[in-house]
Amino acid sequence: MSLNHTATSFFIGNIPINGRLILAPMDGYTDSPMRLISKQFGSAVSISEFINAIDIKQGHPHLLSQITFAECERPFAYQIFDDKPERMLAGALKLREHNPDYIDINMGCSAKNVSNRGAGAGLLKHPQKIGEIVESLVKHLDVPVTAKIRLGWDDNSLNYLETSRIIQESGASAITVHARTRKMEYSGSARWEAICEVKAQLSIPVIGNGDVKSLADAERMMAQTGCDAVMIGRAAIGNPWIFSGSQREEQPRSELLRVVEHHLDLMVQHYGEKIGVMVFRKHLTRYLHGYLSTPEIRRNIYSQEKEMELFESICSLLNSTDPLES
Ligand SMILES: Cc1cc2nc3c(=O)[nH]c(=O)nc-3n(C[C@H](O)[C@H](O)[C@H](O)COP(=O)(O)O)c2cc1C
Repeated sequence: MSLNHTATSFFIGNIPINGRLILAPMDGYTDSPMRLISKQFGSAVSISEFINAIDIKQGHPHLLSQITFAECERPFAYQIFDDKPERMLAGALKLREHNPDYIDINMGCSAKNVSNRGAGAGLLKHPQKIGEIVESLVKHLDVPVTAKIRLGWDDNSLNYLETSRIIQESGASAITVHARTRKMEYSGSARWEAICEVKAQLSIPVIGNGDVKSLADAERMMAQTGCDAVMIGRAAIGNPWIFSGSQREEQPRSELLRVVEHHLDLMVQHYGEKIGVMVFRKHLTRYLHGYLSTPEIRRNIYSQEKEMELFESICSLLNSTDPLES
């Protein structure tokens, strides 16, 4: 199957998806700037960081940044999470006013403050509630609804075949499977064979996720599981080249600088200079992996508060240092 992103590969409801590599939603990372850059390199879909339905109800100050997206990010989805079906629906209806292409429901977040209150992966303990939530969003929204799950709460409650069947029967248009349990969090290896089982029993598109670190991994996941697309999370941080089939380590310094400058610029446009420069540091850590080799270098880079000064420091670092082997 081709990973090419110029032709339609599959549909989420009536939305054509061009390409089979998708940037995973990642809280604290996949804001509009990171999604835009990933899209430019070939990510087929943009999905927001997960948005708390309680924050939508209460009008949390971070909401504006979380809901902002650019037209060129389309197809674009908001991801929402909660444990209360009525509040989830109210939140999804509010998000719908901002005109996303579809809405994704988070059923996989393993963070304790989310899953222990029954939201995110906490929903996996209540398959009936999952059905209720999906059915209600599908009924009241005029855009496709999708869900992202894990394999179950722990190894004693692996219920991905049940939850994925309920999600499809309740009217969802696609499902993403992060092939770990909630208990595994991000440890151990993703169990791709479970993605294969889900794909075999469903007719809606299945997006596989977990431990894809390169185009070769993505091709291997598709070949082994038959999934319709592959979602890439951690390996895409500071490495948008992954969506075009190469890796950060293979880029000449001029290309690394070009993308860092572009990303920094988008961050400053999105957050303003003070916050934008600060939030960019975690991306920079990944872009400059191998270069930030001494405490002095790190101090110099991380103490910069102005866009121009930060970029000049990065330029002089790249021009004067060879990266350490990782
Ligand atoms: C920092 C971080 C934040 C995340 N936030 C979200 C989120 O908001 N919504 C979600 O569905 N998954 C979230 N995830 C999980 C990823 O989408 C993905 O399922 C997971 O990282 C496995 O994929 P990977 O092995 O390619 O990283 C997050 C992961 C990380 C590392």
